[in-house]
Formats: sequence, C-alpha cells, structure tokens
Amino acid sequence: MEKLQATSFSLLSCVLLLFLSSVSAITDDPQDKQVYVVYMGSLPSRPDYSPMSNHISIIQEITGESLIEGRLVRSYKRSFNGFAARLTESERERVAEMEGVVSVFPNINYELQTTASWDFMGLKEGKSTKRNLAVESDTIVGVFDGGISPESESFSDKGFGPPPKKWKGVCSGGANFTCNNKLIGARDYTKEGTRDSVGHGTHTASIAAGNAVENTSFFGVGYGTVRGGVPAARIAAYKICGFAGCSSASMMAAFDDAIADGVDIITISVGYYFTRDIDQDSTAIGAFHAMVNGILTMQGGGNFGPKPTTVTSVAPWIFTVAASTTNREFATKVVLGSGKTLVGRSVNGFDLKEKPLVYENVFKCREKSLMKDKIVACNYGNDSEVAASGYIFTQEKDYASVSPYPLSYLSPHDFDSLISYVNSTKSPQATILKSEAIFHQRAPKVTSFSSRGPNFIVADILKPDITAPGIEILAAYSPLASTSNTNKDTRRVNYSVLSGTSMSCPHVAGVAAYVKTFHPEWSPSMIKSAIMTTAWPMNATTTGFTSTEFAYGAGHVDPVSALNPGLVYKTEKADLIAFLCGLNYTLKTVKLISGEAVTCTEKTLPRNLNYPSLSAKLSESNGSFTVTFNRTVTNVGIPNSTYKSKVVLNHESKLKVTVSPSALSFKTVNEKQSFVVTVSGNDLDPKLPSSAHLIWYDGTHNVRSPIVIYAQDQM
Ligand SMILES: *[C@@H]1O[C@H](CO)[C@@H](O)[C@H](O)[C@H]1NC(C)=O
Ligand SMILES: *[C@@H]1O[C@H](CO)[C@@H](O)[C@H](O)[C@H]1NC(C)=O
Ligand SMILES: *[C@@H]1O[C@H](CO)[C@@H](O)[C@H](O)[C@H]1NC(C)=O
Ligand SMILES: *[C@@H]1O[C@H](CO)[C@@H](O)[C@H](O)[C@H]1NC(C)=O
Ligand SMILES: *[C@@H]1O[C@H](CO)[C@@H](O)[C@H](O)[C@H]1NC(C)=O
Ligand SMILES: *[C@@H]1O[C@H](CO)[C@@H](O)[C@H](O)[C@H]1NC(C)=O
Ligand SMILES: *[C@@H]1O[C@H](CO)[C@@H](O)[C@H](O)[C@H]1NC(C)=O
Ligand SMILES: *[C@@H]1O[C@H](CO)[C@@H](O)[C@H](O)[C@H]1NC(C)=O
Ligand SMILES: *[C@@H]1O[C@H](CO)[C@@H](O)[C@H](O)[C@H]1NC(C)=O
Ligand SMILES: *[C@@H]1O[C@H](CO)[C@@H](O)[C@H](O)[C@H]1NC(C)=O
Repeated sequence: MEKLQATSFSLLSCVLLLFLSSVSAITDDPQDKQVYVVYMGSLPSRPDYSPMSNHISIIQEITGESLIEGRLVRSYKRSFNGFAARLTESERERVAEMEGVVSVFPNINYELQTTASWDFMGLKEGKSTKRNLAVESDTIVGVFDGGISPESESFSDKGFGPPPKKWKGVCSGGANFTCNNKLIGARDYTKEGTRDSVGHGTHTASIAAGNAVENTSFFGVGYGTVRGGVPAARIAAYKICGFAGCSSASMMAAFDDAIADGVDIITISVGYYFTRDIDQDSTAIGAFHAMVNGILTMQGGGNFGPKPTTVTSVAPWIFTVAASTTNREFATKVVLGSGKTLVGRSVNGFDLKEKPLVYENVFKCREKSLMKDKIVACNYGNDSEVAASGYIFTQEKDYASVSPYPLSYLSPHDFDSLISYVNSTKSPQATILKSEAIFHQRAPKVTSFSSRGPNFIVADILKPDITAPGIEILAAYSPLASTSNTNKDTRRVNYSVLSGTSMSCPHVAGVAAYVKTFHPEWSPSMIKSAIMTTAWPMNATTTGFTSTEFAYGAGHVDPVSALNPGLVYKTEKADLIAFLCGLNYTLKTVKLISGEAVTCTEKTLPRNLNYPSLSAKLSESNGSFTVTFNRTVTNVGIPNSTYKSKVVLNHESKLKVTVSPSALSFKTVNEKQSFVVTVSGNDLDPKLPSSAHLIWYDGTHNVRSPIVIYAQDQM
C-alpha cells in the first residue's frame, strides 16, 4: 500500500491506515491472482511497435490462454512501456524472465502525506515579488493526489485565457466534474471520478498553484489570503488515490498520461510505507521518464520520522521534500476558573463557553455519561469518544491539527498546573478558546514526523533534498470531506489546516514552477540544483542523529534566491544512465529503462553523480578514511566570473576537506568547470554524521552544498 502523506495524521493515521488496509484486498483475486505492474522501460522507437498488442501477447503467452479477459488492468503506452495485469505467482515468475521486461512488482498501495508560508519564504504578495506572468500562465502543474474540488475559488478561472497550446490532456473527471481555464485537466484512475472527497488533493493543488483568495480562514482562525506559489499557472489533477488507496498501477498510469499531456512540473504527496528498490518503485520509474522529458517531480519524503532511514523517496531524479515549521503557529488557550491562562496546541475552530472541568486520572479518557457538558482533562485522548463538551490532553506536540471537538494539548508542565487547580478548587471551571495564530521566532525547524535519511537504497545520495513549510498550512479543502477527517465531525469547510510532508512537497513544486517561469530552458536537474544550492542554511545540532542534514538536506527553500543561483550542478540522461550502471543494474535493465543501446562501459560511483549535495557512507566510523567526490558546475550567472571555494565545517566536525582546484573561472555563460572534493578524517563521532558545507563564492552568489559523511555502525 502506498498512502497519502498528511498528518491530519495525528488524529487520523489510524483512520487512514484502517481504510487503506481494509482495501488492500482489492488487488487480490479469488483465484490467487494479484495485480502486478510489469515495467518494460522506454517505448521502443520502431514504428511498427504496438504496445497494447504486445502487452496482450505477453499475457496470452504466459497464461497459455487466448482469452485474457479481466487480466490486463492497464497498459502504459504514451510515455513509457509496461502494463498492469492480474497474474498468478507462477505467471509472475514467467513474465519476469521475459525479454523486454525490466521489473515486475506487486501493485501495492501508497499513503497520502497539509499560507502564510509563502510570506515566510520571502515570496510576498503583490508587486514586491517579481513575476513572469505570461510564462507563468503557460506553466502546467500536474498534481497526483486524491482528486480536486473543481468549484473551489482557489481554482476559479476568472482572468485566465484558454489553456496553453502545448496542452494535450483531457478533462475526464466523471459526472458533474467540469474543468475550466485554471483547472485545465482531470483524469481519474480510481473509477470514483476526479472529485475530491477527502480534502487532501484540493489542499496540495492550492498550495502549489492555487489562486490568491482573500479573506479566508478556518472558522476565523488564520484569517488572510490563501495562495499558491504560482497563482497564474494552470493545474491538471490526476486522481491516483481513492477509497481503495493509491496503487502503483495508478501511479504509473498518471505518469504515462501526464508526461504525454504536457505538464511542466509534477507534485506527488503520496508515498510508500517501505522503501523499495528503484526498479520496483513506480514513482521512481515514472519520475525517471518525466525527467527525460524535461519534467521535474517533487515528492514528500514521508511522515515516518524521526527515526533514521525512514525517508521513502530515494531516487536522485526526484526532488524529495521534508517538512518544517514557519514563524506562524496555532495556539489554543485554556482559561481556568482562577483566571490563569495556559497556552496549548491544536487547531480549534469552536467557541466554547465556560464549563465545569473534571480531571480523569487515567491513561485514556473513557466514554462516560458523567462527562456530558463538561470539559474533561486526561492524559491522552481518542477521536471516537465525543462524550464531553471539550477535552484537554497532555502531550508535547510540535504541530497542531484540526480536532472534531474543542480541544487543546497542554505541555506536561501546564497540565500539572491544571491538575493543581482542579485539586485546589471545589467547582473547577475552564474555557477552551478558539485558536489564534502566534508568532514563532525559532523557525524553521524540521518536525518530528518528517522522515529522515540516510537513504536506505542509495546510501551515497543524501535524502531528503530540502525542507519547506509543512505544518499548520491553511489551504483549500473539499466541502465533501469531514473537516477533521473523522466520522463524528459533520462540519464542512472550503479551507482547512493540514500538516505533513504532503504540504511541504507542493510548496517546492510551486517554487520549481516559479523558477521555471524565469528560466524556461532549464532542465529539471538545473532547477533542482538552483533551489538546493540557494537554500537557507539550517543548524546541525548535537541533540541527535536526526537533527542534521538527514532531516533537511540542503536546507530550507528560498524561492527568490533560487532564481539566481550563479552555478548549477547538471545531471543529464547520460549521467543517470552511468549512475544506474554504477548501481550494478544489468546491462539489459539499463538498456530497457533508457531506451538506448548503452554499454555501461562508464560506471559512475553513486557519490560521483553530479548531485548538488555530497554524501558518502563509510563501512565503519573508527579508523581513518579518505573519500573523493567529482563534480562539474555550469555557469548560469554572468560571463567572466571567478568563484572561490570555501569550506565551512559544522560544529565539532573533524573533517579535513580540500577542493581542487580551489577557484574556478568562467569566461562565458553555460561554460562548465570540474573539480574534486577530497574529504578525510579519522575516528568519526560514533553517534552523528560529520558534516560541512562547500561554498562557491563570486562576491554575489553563494553556491552552497552540504557534505555529509556517515558510517554503517552509526545506524
Ligand atoms: C450531478 O448533478 C445533478 C444536479 O446537481 C444531480 O442531480 C446528480 O445526481 C449529480 N450526479 C452525480 C453522479 O453526482
Ligand atoms: C476582504 O476584506 C477587506 C477588509 O474587510 C475588504 O476590503 C475586501 O474587499 C475583502 N475582499 C474580498 C475579496 O471580499
Ligand atoms: C478509542 O475509543 C473507542 C471507544 O472507547 C475504542 O473502541 C477504540 O479502540 C479507541 N481507540 C484507540 C486508538 O485507543
Ligand atoms: C492532586 O490530588 C491528588 C489526590 O489528592 C494527589 O495525589 C496529586 O498529587 C495532586 N496533584 C497535584 C498536581 O497537585
Ligand atoms: C464553499 O464554496 C462554495 C462555492 O464557492 C460556496 O457555495 C459555499 O458557500 C462555501 N462554503 C462555505 C462554508 O463557505
Ligand atoms: C543557527 O544557529 C545560529 C548560531 O547559533 C543562529 O544564529 C541561527 O539563528 C540558527 N538558525 C536557525 C535556522 O535556527
Ligand atoms: C557494484 O559492483 C562492484 C563490483 O562488484 C562493487 O565494487 C560495488 O560496490 C557495487 N556497487 C554498488 C552500488 O553496490
Ligand atoms: C573499529 O571498531 C570495531 C568494533 O568496535 C572493531 O572491531 C575494529 O577493530 C575497530 N577498528 C579499528 C581500526 O579500530
Ligand atoms: C575525477 O576527477 C579526477 C580529476 O579530474 C579524474 O582524474 C578522475 O578520473 C575522475 N573520476 C571519475 C570517476 O570521473
Ligand atoms: C570577458 O573578458 C574578455 C577578456 O577580458 C573580454 O574580451 C570580453 O568582452 C568579456 N566578456 C564580457 C561579456 O564581458
């Protein structure tokens, strides 16, 4: 199962998991057949090749049946080659052996991973932000998610002209689903129609490219303008998640279509529970073909942190996004009868009058008629009990979420003062106020739920790549969805607050689209490099393995600086082919994926891929080591410029880093220069990765890359 990546999660993870796991059965068949995705690489360029007919022949051959009704689930034939089919175990084995097949993997399900955030990042509203509106209007953001709410004001086409000429998609959203000149395309792979009944897809789409909508709020909370990164861009919605989850077969189909439809950017707030090998990962496969076609794919890193190796988006051609705080957070005050005010966390849209307060000295609040018309304070709560008027729980939370009833989470310290008050009073009373936005100075900070590196599949590629706002984001929502995603909550809203790498991912998609409007000719790797090397530095702390580059990659996205990076690290298709060869995929596999007659004579060590971050895993932390990284930068700044290298060690790092040559001169734009970074040291900190930054500096630009060295035995 793959799943949506929102942390409406705190309250919801159970709900989502329940409804997802209950449907994993859908892919199973009464006759022991399961749906498998059969990936066959690039489309052959032979004019006589008919993918669909080839797929049918393959199924006929392995099943020995000429009538294959119900076997072929989907054919991928527009942007790459492959199909999804119902197969028995022995048929799966046979098809895997066949000529032309790269990989066969089960049709597992994904999980979904939720806008003052743009101001926080320095992309202000109005004239102070430079925009290239004509190009922005020709930019199409493809959103792979749980559908979209087409009537939302965030997707109104007031002021939009007809879709860009390059658009080759369709609007097939199902009954009563109408596209317009803003929401120009809709496809559905769930048989439910593209309309969003969960809220997640509407939210992510509006973060990336929603219109600016004034005077919006969640029941008055977070009042202001909700907007996307590129409000003038167009949106195409690809519904890959439905009640049955988000299947790999749908993920592949959405890539097959979106690439051919002509989208510019793809954003996917959907991830697996478990990390998979690149050739078994439908997002990695789809994103590879997208990249070859000039389309950059963003994906949320997952909400499985803070443990190491929980990042589930691992391929270097995907832009993997962590989630962090902004300077705005939502607080919910609890006012005690004594007048004392305690500041707790939650997104509370209710206005509750003063009520009698009771404290339940149990681990969980229990449903009791006694609780009626009272505020109940207990250590831990549970959605399905809504017996009381309001609840106060205690838990240190680093993000707030929408609750189906008046609720505030207090810190253990404040909870103790509440208990003392209850103890000391005959008839204790309390009020839970509506949430308010408060300013939070110590931002950004990566949230605990955000998935951490290291990369479990390609150890020397640092993941996540970057972090972006991912908590308490107010954006568009589906009025069909329960406001807190619980059965008990019958409130319906057009705007809501969600948290997750689901929400940080479309922020970076919006930034990538924004950068592309100024540099339409830049390849996906150039856009990604520009965003990574201009990111705000974050602090590697000694408080733990996971408060390091393994939490935030290159740092925090900075949209305006990303327009002018000076130098970029480019990776072209040939580099990625050499990288795949270096990962020891067979020649046959690499040939099929690339669609070219490759020989794998050139094998790139993963750490020598021309990536904007530098990372290497050592076999052990003790003893001495020396590793080198080869890199090439391309000048996208000004002619006749000279960059000097500078290495900044993170605190307590004992690395020795040399850069050769230590200065690079460029006569012209687009000129390339190569260099080698040598990192040596001994007896690394056994608990923490050792890190530093490489900076190329020309007096104007700081082209910054993290360098991260870690060892097997630190894991
Ligand atoms: C479509 O809308 C019409 C009118 O609002 C309604 O009667 C009909 O049931 C809707 N159909 C579906 C499939 O939702
Ligand atoms: C938003 O509110 C302001 C202040 O009340 C008002 O001037 C403005 O017209 C409103 N905008 C919209 C679109 O309603
Ligand atoms: C929540 O409470 C309900 C009813 O008391 C119970 O059935 C359920 O198991 C509880 N859920 C959790 C996650 O504790
Ligand atoms: C509240 O009272 C109970 C029983 O009288 C006592 O055990 C507990 O320590 C008191 N708690 C606080 C925080 O004062
Ligand atoms: C949500 O938006 C729809 C369409 O714009 C509008 O008809 C409806 O009144 C809105 N609902 C709320 C709760 O604002
Ligand atoms: C990182 O640490 C430095 C020095 O302690 C501090 O000035 C800076 O504000 C911190 N940055 C962040 C993002 O916390
Ligand atoms: C690929 O195989 C070579 C030779 O067996 C080995 O040295 C190298 O470590 C392998 N690379 C990876 C990424 O596993
Ligand atoms: C490194 O540590 C391991 C395990 O603690 C030990 O077996 C090995 O001998 C050490 N190597 C060196 C070079 O100290
Ligand atoms: C790395 O760069 C050095 C110096 O330019 C060169 O000798 C070496 O062949 C390069 N290695 C790879 C794997 O490209
Ligand atoms: C770069 O410098 C060279 C030599 O000094 C000069 O001829 C050339 O005009 C300069 N180019 C630009 C664009 O300034």
